[in-house]
Amino acid sequence: MADNDSSTAERGAWNSKLGFILAASGSAIGLGNIVFFASNAYQYGGGAFYLPYFIALFVMGIPVMITEFSLGTMTGKSFPLALQKLAGKKGEFVGWWSIASALTITMYYITILGWALSMLVGAFGSLLEPGATAPFEGMTEPTAGPSAVTWFFGMVATWWPMLAVVAIWGVTVLLLWRGTETIEKAVRIFVPMMWLFMIGLVINGLLQPGGVDGVLYLFTPNLDGIADVRVWQGAFAQMFFSLSLGLGTMTAYASYLPKDADNVNNSLLVSFLNCGFEYIAGVAIFALLFVYALNPAGTTLSLSFFAIPQGIAGFPFGVKFFGVFFFLLVVIAGLTSAVSLVEGMASPLIDKLGISRAKALSFVLVPGILGSLLFAVPSIIDTGLTGNGTLGLTLLDLVDNWAFRYSLLTVGLLECLLLGWVLGADKIRAAVNVHTKFKLGPWFDWLIKLVIPAILSFVIFFTLVDDFTSAGGKFAEEGGLYGSGYTMPGYEWLPVFIPIAWLTFTIVVAAVLTSRRTVDAAPHEADAVPDTLAV
Ligand code: PHE
Repeated sequence: MADNDSSTAERGAWNSKLGFILAASGSAIGLGNIVFFASNAYQYGGGAFYLPYFIALFVMGIPVMITEFSLGTMTGKSFPLALQKLAGKKGEFVGWWSIASALTITMYYITILGWALSMLVGAFGSLLEPGATAPFEGMTEPTAGPSAVTWFFGMVATWWPMLAVVAIWGVTVLLLWRGTETIEKAVRIFVPMMWLFMIGLVINGLLQPGGVDGVLYLFTPNLDGIADVRVWQGAFAQMFFSLSLGLGTMTAYASYLPKDADNVNNSLLVSFLNCGFEYIAGVAIFALLFVYALNPAGTTLSLSFFAIPQGIAGFPFGVKFFGVFFFLLVVIAGLTSAVSLVEGMASPLIDKLGISRAKALSFVLVPGILGSLLFAVPSIIDTGLTGNGTLGLTLLDLVDNWAFRYSLLTVGLLECLLLGWVLGADKIRAAVNVHTKFKLGPWFDWLIKLVIPAILSFVIFFTLVDDFTSAGGKFAEEGGLYGSGYTMPGYEWLPVFIPIAWLTFTIVVAAVLTSRRTVDAAPHEADAVPDTLAV
């Protein structure tokens, strides 16, 4: 890169629009599309899920993505500093809170990826072979056929996944070493590869006798569930996570675009690529479920970690090949998302503290890897295995309940309120419209100012009330906080401790970073925010 452009060179810039689209869609397509989508769609009854899902996409997902992209292109900064420029200190605090939430989520996201990597290694070896044995007392009897459940619990109850976690963090940091330059190289290989793999899986699923039933389950409208607010809550949280919104990621990626990027076009492209992939993945997975009459009862992870390998083990041929194929796909898709999560945290640290990329990466890596290791701790704390078994799985379950279901939607709500009312949604719209072919109308302002905040407030409020009161709620069924019904002698305090620790951690990190002085080491030409936009 030219010397006279050293500021951009330090901060990073995409080489081409294609590079950006690949990176942003690589961020969006991840565990959310394969692991979480299928289990959500299954849990909420297939056909009952897609109406709320598409409403979530058009009414909220695409407009919020346009907003998050605009924050990046308008200011040339990542999330907290972009919000600070456009909506003041309050905005910066919200931005850092979302970065702290991103760190929490990345910790366990990478642990799950570590388990997927361990399953990949297992798929080469004994995972899909008959004769799996009980890994520890009190769980299952040795099985005659292959048992992915037995294998999975056997694996998480060893120290090996910790090695996998370290490997995933190592690769993530390597892919980020030179910022946009290395990210772009990686996504040019990984993103087309995961599309190819997924298309292979879907064709294979549909060719199996009975595979089409899975598609019917996913697409036959079922209006029964529509009145259930939990279905909507599930669809909205899924949409935010799947589109990589609410954690600062998309703004960091967009800050490396030229100021005249077409944010509407980019949002439409990335959203459609993501949701297209998600539905194709759904078809591939549901086809297998129906062909092999699998019943993925239990946790979110059980569908991809137990049911799918179980289905693959039943293939008449190509068992190892497809097993390896599936977990390689999960690992690659997850890696390009983990890369974006970490970049979304490193980039604002560089912007705020004026530190080098290596230093910023290590600020994320050190707490990140410790957290991921904690989620991989194999000590068995639930001997009856009525809950999650190991300490790591239990921690993951408890943290995910809070971080996943509350943080993204809360950030979405606050960013819409701040940008809609403090800055003015019309100003974002005017800035976007200068560079886009498809002009946003005044409806955009109303979505950002009223409709999305109203929906999100309702969903968040409902989730809280439901969690604490209703009989079917997450906490009330156990007569206390979420998880308090688990049998884990000596660890009964965890369900209370986790939400307090999560809130304290994220608020303290946000407060400390907001209160620090901004050291502008790499001023960007886009720093010159038009006066009308600056607060
Ligand atoms: N969208 C990613 C997935 O579906 C996860 C993610 C969320 C990545 C937020 C970055 C930011 O797996």
